[in-house]
Amino acid sequence: MNDSIRKQMNIQITNEHVASMAYLEMASWCAEQDLPGLEEYFYFSAEDEREHMMEFYRYANANGCRSSIGAVPTLRQSFEHVLDILEHNLYLEQQNTIAINQMAKMCHDISDYATLQFLQPFIKEQQDSERSVEDLIVMVKRVGYDAKNLYFLDKQFKKLMQGKDEESPEKE
Ligand SMILES: [Fe+2]
Repeated sequence: MNDSIRKQMNIQITNEHVASMAYLEMASWCAEQDLPGLEEYFYFSAEDEREHMMEFYRYANANGCRSSIGAVPTLRQSFEHVLDILEHNLYLEQQNTIAINQMAKMCHDISDYATLQFLQPFIKEQQDSERSVEDLIVMVKRVGYDAKNLYFLDKQFKKLMQGKDEESPEKE
């Protein structure tokens, strides 16, 4: 593996880890606000990012890069309201998309097609993640997120998470 890709791999390992930690902080904020549906959604997101981190970790170690997680910056712990936390969710996904696209471009430029192929599913997943968070933002704006709508809104997240449970193969 080329030196610049090796460096970028560890940056991406750190990015995925930081995203996972950030979603845990967001789950804690939801727990404080008595929003169990949204809390569960962020636990799910945290686990999803951890799985990505593990995939990068294993791939990098298997291909001549010494995988290592870098420093975690201070993470945001408080939010104005549900729309604010979801907009932060979208921002994190957009940052991750930029980083993965940058790495894909580097792989393309140096003809590392194997790593480019490894990145393909992540590129697609970033597109899907951004779209699904955008859909949630539309839902939150339509349902409303002031005190009187929160019970109903959180129930929508609970339903969404129940759907994800049914999708997951180990629950079948
Ligand atoms: Fe990710």
